[in-house]
Amino acid sequence: MYAAFRSIGSYVPQNILTNHDLEKMVDTSDEWITKRTGIKTRHIADKDETTSDMGVKAAQKAIERAALKPQDIDMIVCATISPDYFCMPSTACMIAKKLDIANIPAFDISAACSGFIYALATAKAFIESGMAKNVLIVGSEKLSAIVDYSDRTTCILFGDGAGAAIIGATDKKEEAIIDVNIAADGKYYDFLITPGCGTNKPCSEEVLKERECFIKMKGNETFKVAVKTLTNDVNEILEKNRISSDDITYFVPHQANYRILNAVASALKLRDDQLVMTVSKYGNTSSASIPMAINDIYEEGRLKKGDLLLLDAFGGGFTWGSALVPFSPQN
Ligand code: UT7
Repeated sequence: MYAAFRSIGSYVPQNILTNHDLEKMVDTSDEWITKRTGIKTRHIADKDETTSDMGVKAAQKAIERAALKPQDIDMIVCATISPDYFCMPSTACMIAKKLDIANIPAFDISAACSGFIYALATAKAFIESGMAKNVLIVGSEKLSAIVDYSDRTTCILFGDGAGAAIIGATDKKEEAIIDVNIAADGKYYDFLITPGCGTNKPCSEEVLKERECFIKMKGNETFKVAVKTLTNDVNEILEKNRISSDDITYFVPHQANYRILNAVASALKLRDDQLVMTVSKYGNTSSASIPMAINDIYEEGRLKKGDLLLLDAFGGGFTWGSALVPFSPQN
């Protein structure tokens, strides 16, 4: 049995935070943000809108587009670093509850911005081993809840949103996900970190005062490792599978910074029409960024059956991953 990428869905909250809004909150400028990141706007969830609420909306679209019912799903994997609840229950369990699905495995994956590719690898492995047939994978983030809006080095980067996909079993090799590569190197654990409120430094007055429950990042150092790692990673997966960058219909990288995306795309000698870039409107939405970007080209009518996607992500941990995925809707 092979695993096929059947459908895509996403959800974007309505509220928009612009660079000009941020100019009123921290010492920054539209010019600096645009030049250094390519970001113009990001979407921000409502106060009472949770990560699972957004994940459910994306999931409903993906399930409907795969011509399935929620009850056909036999596993839910949610990638997130901004779960509804600290420790438990998992956001995947909350998504299952809200979709009215019970008695199937549902669990979260913590791999930061690489989470969607880790979820894809997990779904593929479960399907190929015969343990699942229709896996719902979700990347959903309410990063606005864990961003420090007094820290100009991070608050300009992140946004909220969700994306979801159905990975289904198939016996047709031409529909199958060709390859997924995931990896990590924990020696960089403190380059992108929320230092407080875990068992290393439990929640305390001091942790709250130092704002250690929020994302901290060594931005410039992360940038350099990201460009090098992503370039090596995509070259490796293409070489391993004897696929030329010319054969890729769309390169859909994690949307962190347009400079990173352009550097990797030019190392691969990709044409402009191959690179999918949404960072200017959504900012960095961590595990949601890749499925949100795939959904955009789908809704624009640009993604067709048989198109070959090259996915690529890098994030906290550090974690990274890439995947070669034909888009294989059933109809
Ligand atoms: O999603 C997971 C992976 N994430 C990433 O890959 C993100 C990687 N990092 C980046 O995208 C970039 O490093 C940033 C966009 C975060 C920063 O850009 P940079 O070109 O690396 O800038 P920098 O950190 O070297 O800072 C340059 C200057 C500094 O001032 P001095 O020391 O030169 O006087 C910063 O204090 O820019 C200053 N700065 C700002 N100025 C205006 C930092 N943030 C801001 C800001 N507005 N928001």
